[in-house]
Amino acid sequence: MLQARYLIWALLFGYAASLQVEITPMQGEISMGESRFFLCEVVGDVKDIDWYAPNGEKLLPNRQDILVNRNDESSSTLTIYNANVDNAGIYKCVAKNGDKESQGTVNVKIFQKITFKNAPSPQEFNEGDDADIICDVVSSPPADTIWKHKGSKIQVAKDVRFKILTNNHLQIRGIKKTDEGAYTCEARVMTRGEIDLKIIKVIVNVLPSIRTRQSEMNATADVNQSVMLACDADGFPEPTVTWARNNIVLESDDKYGLNNDGLELIIKDVKKVDEGDYTCIARNKAGEKEEEVSLNVFVQPKITYLVNQTASELEEQITLTCEASGDPTPTITWSFGRRIFTEGEQSLDGNVVVRSHARVSSLTLKYVQFTDAGHYLCTARNSIGQDQQTMYLEVRYAPKIQGSVTVYTWEGNAANISCEVLAHPGASVVWFRDGQQLSSTNTTNVRIYNTPAVSYLEVTPDSQNDFGSYNCTATNMIGAESKEFLLIPADVPSAPAIERVEPFSSTAVVEFEEPDASGGVAILKYRAEWRMQGEDWTGREYDAEEGLSMITIVGLKPETFYEVKMSAINGKGEGESSPPQNFKTEPVLSSVTPTFIPSTSAALKGEPSPPKLEGKLQTMGNALKVNWIKQDDRGSPIKHYLIRYRAKHVPDWKPEIRLPNGSEYVVLNSLDWNTEYEVYVVAENQQGKSQPGTLFFRTAAEPTAIPDTMHSGSGLGTGAIVGILIVVFVLLLVGVDVTCYFLNKCGLVMCIAVNFCGKSGPGAKSKDLEEGKAAFTKDESKGPIVEVRTEEERTPNHEGGGPTEPNETTPLTEPDGKIMTGDKSKAPETATEAKKALSEVKTVLNEAAKTNGNESKA
Ligand SMILES: *[C@@H]1O[C@H](CO)[C@@H](O)[C@H](O)[C@H]1NC(C)=O
Ligand SMILES: *[C@@H]1O[C@H](CO)[C@@H](O)[C@H](O)[C@H]1NC(C)=O
Ligand SMILES: *[C@@H]1O[C@H](CO)[C@@H](O)[C@H](O)[C@H]1NC(C)=O
Ligand SMILES: *[C@@H]1O[C@H](CO)[C@@H](O)[C@H](O)[C@H]1NC(C)=O
Ligand SMILES: *[C@@H]1O[C@H](CO)[C@@H](O)[C@H](O)[C@H]1NC(C)=O
Ligand SMILES: *[C@@H]1O[C@H](CO)[C@@H](O)[C@H](O)[C@H]1NC(C)=O
Ligand SMILES: *[C@@H]1O[C@H](CO)[C@@H](O)[C@H](O)[C@H]1NC(C)=O
Repeated sequence: MLQARYLIWALLFGYAASLQVEITPMQGEISMGESRFFLCEVVGDVKDIDWYAPNGEKLLPNRQDILVNRNDESSSTLTIYNANVDNAGIYKCVAKNGDKESQGTVNVKIFQKITFKNAPSPQEFNEGDDADIICDVVSSPPADTIWKHKGSKIQVAKDVRFKILTNNHLQIRGIKKTDEGAYTCEARVMTRGEIDLKIIKVIVNVLPSIRTRQSEMNATADVNQSVMLACDADGFPEPTVTWARNNIVLESDDKYGLNNDGLELIIKDVKKVDEGDYTCIARNKAGEKEEEVSLNVFVQPKITYLVNQTASELEEQITLTCEASGDPTPTITWSFGRRIFTEGEQSLDGNVVVRSHARVSSLTLKYVQFTDAGHYLCTARNSIGQDQQTMYLEVRYAPKIQGSVTVYTWEGNAANISCEVLAHPGASVVWFRDGQQLSSTNTTNVRIYNTPAVSYLEVTPDSQNDFGSYNCTATNMIGAESKEFLLIPADVPSAPAIERVEPFSSTAVVEFEEPDASGGVAILKYRAEWRMQGEDWTGREYDAEEGLSMITIVGLKPETFYEVKMSAINGKGEGESSPPQNFKTEPVLSSVTPTFIPSTSAALKGEPSPPKLEGKLQTMGNALKVNWIKQDDRGSPIKHYLIRYRAKHVPDWKPEIRLPNGSEYVVLNSLDWNTEYEVYVVAENQQGKSQPGTLFFRTAAEPTAIPDTMHSGSGLGTGAIVGILIVVFVLLLVGVDVTCYFLNKCGLVMCIAVNFCGKSGPGAKSKDLEEGKAAFTKDESKGPIVEVRTEEERTPNHEGGGPTEPNETTPLTEPDGKIMTGDKSKAPETATEAKKALSEVKTVLNEAAKTNGNESKA
């Protein structure tokens, strides 16, 4: 195109009329930092093409930022690299050839694109701050800035906390955690329609808050205790927690442990020095907060000083000292045996004074007695514990002699004179007689036995010379003491006094009083002598026992006059006899017709005392074993016992059970459950029936599940059950057979009876029952089962019309004095028997009773 114009110009104005310069592009707008080039074309014969900067300076080809380059004969290029505002202005392209010159210009404009010069992300603020969210935009011309949050433009008018500052920063006053999020800073340049935006993340940090779990902790020192102090912290970002004591940060080591991100501080093996305040510090970007935890360390009391001490009885006073450590300061008490001494306390006698000061307590004995010797317990006590230790106070004292001063004996009888010595240290004892020291080896009738506490002088008097005073002298390092002992000849006892004689038909009970004088030694025996008038004395000795005041003399004839006298005997010999006392024995008493429950009137003389009963409920719960203890039989042997019992609410008694002399118990079986029973046991002798011994009891409640009435509770194997069934079956068969034998006189038993015993049947029933044997009676009906036991041996029978006799019942009776009476007729009384229905037992007893009656009549 330039060529064509040039041609037109040439045609119009002649060939080399002038030079034509043209710059393409004719305008230049360059964004800062961009590069552009401009082409300068010259029409005509040109020699030089030069570019001039806006300040008129000619641009030389060696510049770096602005490059000038001659392309060919007729064109040159101006290249602006990396444009900046300084490069703006009018550039000239000048073409020259000799004096011909022509120029063209181009106006280069430099503009600034939207640029976020300072708009960092994220931007962090502390909660509550007035946050200034920075977004510095540069552009030319200046851009308009708007802020967006959560997709919509921030309406400053709506929330007074928001404000756009003049520098286009967004201000949030008192920023909250909820204001956190992405904010968009958007810039627009209207003239260019240019738009750009920057997303700025706003973070709101929250100052930590911290709480202690306990503001105070208690621990015990020196017991390898670990204690944990703990704080809890909140904040954003998550704060870190550290612990410090006296501004020194504590690290995890032998002494301390840190748990749970440092929230917990463990103090190991607490000592007293660990007491104090511990600070837990929570720290994050927003700042730090701290709290204090106090650790109190208590120390258990410990006695640190307490020593044994020695005192002498003569010394003025002694002070015992006890020292103890501990926190809180322990209080110290003393005790001696059962006596307890506390601070400031004085004993009643004023002898003991306790003073305490801080950790020391002293116990002062103002005057020391030998009884003060012993173990003193010092106790130190505070709120968390106590410690105890004992010390021993040794008291040295001169011997003290005790023991009975007078000792009685008789010639030829050895007696011990006891010299009891209290002394510390132990004393040595010597005996003197008339100023002469006695030696046990030199005389035959004196021996000395020394034990730590007693020295015995055993003297066997040969003659009157050996009686008299003996001197015991005890000596130790503290001193000596001596005491006179008297050996006195013993005398025979004086006479006992007969107070009363209670005669029976063949015996008599003599009550007496001990002699006034024992003669100095113990009474060993009493002698009683008695006689029918005009006959010789019969005598017997009775061992003297503690509290003995009654003896029984035996072998007397009924309805006869007697006299009795008594004397006492000791080691020395027999004393005087008491004056004789007369009495007459009773006639023989006839048997009183027994009534079962005796009237309330006074018991007849000679009836036994009621037996004492004891009941023991058997494991089954509805069986009771009733034991009785035989009481005084008033000199007439018990013939038998009669037992009756009934349920309390029932008027009728169960059939009476009769057991021979020597029986001690009865077992009542198959009682009603949970029922009150009463049991009466009467002892009967020749003189009659005793008052009943009574027993009331209640049977157990019926067990809900009764596994087996006979075998309580135990689980039986199938084999055992089968075995039991077979036994029951066989028993049933035998039962049937026996029933047949009695009722119909047939069956196996009948057969055996007829063939071997020649028995004709049940008519002969009771006589062939064995005496005194253990008997089981089982009632086939609903009646109770009664188990009856008597002694194995045949019980001697005292019935049968002989004179009724008090027997010797007191323990003082001696075998040689035994006199049996009335044993001539032995009634064939049968005891209760085995394997019989209860009714039959009753029959037997009744028959026996009849038999007895007959025989006694005989
Ligand atoms: C610590 O001991 C003191 C004094 O015995 C007591 O008052 C306080 O309640 C105890 N504190 C704790 C946390 O057991
Ligand atoms: C103290 O207790 C810690 C842990 O309870 C135990 O490991 C350490 O052996 C104990 N130290 C002593 C001296 O008993
Ligand atoms: C103190 O006396 C007691 C009793 O006599 C004894 O067992 C203990 O060993 C003594 N202690 C000292 C330290 O002597
Ligand atoms: C005296 O006492 C000693 C020692 O206890 C003893 O062996 C001796 O038998 C006693 N003598 C008499 C007569 O009791
Ligand atoms: C017995 O006494 C004599 C002097 O009276 C004395 O010489 C002798 O040693 C004594 N014997 C013993 C064993 O003590
Ligand atoms: C006992 O004998 C000793 C030594 O002969 C004498 O010193 C003392 O006085 C006597 N004691 C009495 C109580 O007679
Ligand atoms: C009664 O029994 C006792 C003790 O078993 C016996 O010593 C006494 O001789 C018996 N008396 C009679 C009369 O059976």
